[in-house]
Amino acid sequence: MSAEIESILHENRVFKPSKEFSRTARVRSMRAYRDMMKKAEADYPGFWGDLARTHLEWEKPFSRVLNDSNPPFFKWFEDGLINVSVNCLDRHLTTPRKNKAAIVWEGEPGDVRTLTYQELAYEVGRFSNVLKESGVVKGDRVIVYMPMVPELPVALLACARIGATHSVVFGGFSAEALKDRILDAGAKILITADGGWRRGQTVPLKEMADEALKGCPQVSHVVVLKRTGQAVAMQTGRDVWWHDAVQGKSPKCAPVPVEPEHPLFILYTSGSTGKPKGVVHSSGGYLLGATMTMQWVFDIQDHDTFWCTADIGWVTGHSYVVYGPLSNGATSVMYEGAPTTPHAGRLWEIVEKHSVNIFYTAPTAIRALVKLGDEWPQKFDLSSLRILGTVGEPINPEAWMWYYKTIGGERCPIVDTWWQTETGMHMISPLPGATPIKPGSATLAVPGIFADVVDAEGNSLGPDKGGYLVVKRPWPSMIRTVHGDPERYKKTYWGEFGGRYYFAGDGARKDKDGYFWIMGRVDDVINVAGHRLGTMEVESALVSHPAVAEAAVVGCPDDLKGEGIFAFVILKGGEKSGNAALVATLRDHVAKEIGPIAKPDHIKFTDGLPKTRSGKIMRRLLRDIAAGRETKGDISTLEDSKTLESLRHEE
Ligand code: PRX
Repeated sequence: MSAEIESILHENRVFKPSKEFSRTARVRSMRAYRDMMKKAEADYPGFWGDLARTHLEWEKPFSRVLNDSNPPFFKWFEDGLINVSVNCLDRHLTTPRKNKAAIVWEGEPGDVRTLTYQELAYEVGRFSNVLKESGVVKGDRVIVYMPMVPELPVALLACARIGATHSVVFGGFSAEALKDRILDAGAKILITADGGWRRGQTVPLKEMADEALKGCPQVSHVVVLKRTGQAVAMQTGRDVWWHDAVQGKSPKCAPVPVEPEHPLFILYTSGSTGKPKGVVHSSGGYLLGATMTMQWVFDIQDHDTFWCTADIGWVTGHSYVVYGPLSNGATSVMYEGAPTTPHAGRLWEIVEKHSVNIFYTAPTAIRALVKLGDEWPQKFDLSSLRILGTVGEPINPEAWMWYYKTIGGERCPIVDTWWQTETGMHMISPLPGATPIKPGSATLAVPGIFADVVDAEGNSLGPDKGGYLVVKRPWPSMIRTVHGDPERYKKTYWGEFGGRYYFAGDGARKDKDGYFWIMGRVDDVINVAGHRLGTMEVESALVSHPAVAEAAVVGCPDDLKGEGIFAFVILKGGEKSGNAALVATLRDHVAKEIGPIAKPDHIKFTDGLPKTRSGKIMRRLLRDIAAGRETKGDISTLEDSKTLESLRHEE
């Protein structure tokens, strides 16, 4: 990599891939990238169809690539048949990858397990038979609420093997959030563990699952993995230990071929209004997206050890801990615990120990690691690294430069990947052997993706004009629907711009080179530590506390998390302000309702909120107050300007 300082402004720094890197990369030049784009432009179905035939194994070949007769309900590879677990396991077992490490796992206490493709296939086969014997059949939903242990991917691949649809609920979510998801998914079976390790403590997963299940009488089977050994209650007839369940089970389980459109998984994510949305992903198209971006963006090669630090409870873990790496026969590193336990160099220690070549994490983690000081990464040998990646939020140039220099030794390209739960795969990202990179920009759309920045009418905007980030053509790994609510899918993602473009809430601009700079959300969604939270969800959690009459939640700048949560709270009974104890109670209450990630960082008690004459809270003004900014712009629609004054002055 070489730095070309085009101007003294940070934003103008450009880093080109080194010749040495490009020589062996999967995509070696901008010309190669442009040729792929031209091919996709000229023959869109042909482009994706060829990739699907070349890179996936089909039980029955498809004859038609894209059915777009009923937009926005697009269908890909419709008349084929596929099994995702066959693509992630069986197809490698007849190759030299059979005894290659599929998963290299490290637990927080320091225990290490390595599963080869053969061993993983063996475990998946046995667990598939457990699911079958519990009555799970094709199309059933299976909820997975587990720590980051190898049995988590085993459970997912076992679902895929028998055509069940998995829905992973992040282990940091509360019992209440788990219950809502079990009910929405209509699941009858839950896979969980006694607990998991986090910061030297155990997370009581089974206890929370039991709490959630009090409201889910339809759940008839619970499989519990023994991970921490903590005491848990087991309900006879419903709960069974994982190790007892797999005992004596055959490792052979015939894969169930499914239609490519068959839902592989549902993953819940926040929207700007109402309850979390169950984003439904397909089998064939989703797998193709995860498989190809693993090659294009991470340049995955057979000798690579790949580590994505995301929890499998998020889409990043689905696509880049499990499906993308395994479909490519790669080695995927998994780590159970916190990045600073037992010491602040834990991540770098793992990089050294397992000789990690590609490392993918979130800007919020990078900022936290910067603060811990350079001595930690300097203690370890990071010379195995060849590519670094980021995801989840824009990365600030300072954090980018630290990552580039201190972790990457000025040698590793950084792929800043823009995508979403709904997109299933990277959408805008550098290709490390081809794309010159600029700190803070996700650069260009990946091959076959037509992204643009448009105005409110859907017209393309010129350089450096901020607007809405849209995708102009459907793509194989796109969201198919919102579980149980196709209208919500249509309205949320295709409701703007006359239904022509996909739009999921981000603002962006393109610079003179066509590079995308993501400007953040334009809706009432906040991005906390790289994870989306609907402000409405936090508001309803606050209002569900007996002391609270009304609440308004906005994002505020936060050095570490990117965005923090600022809550304005009106108490019942006309009380003007609460005390520190009440602040603590309300924060805990939100943690109980949603999970610790949603705890407000700041709570300000008030007796009024700035509203329009029609009663709508003017969030723009609240955002200014939360950020300590002057309010610019029109406040003529404000019903009572005194509210704003008093909010500013009450401390
Ligand atoms: O606002 C964008 C931000 O994260 C949102 C998607 O969140 P989620 O579905 O939870 O998925 C996160 C991991 C894929 C986007 O709408 N975002 C994601 N990646 C980036 C980003 N913002 C800027 N730069 C990125 N690289």
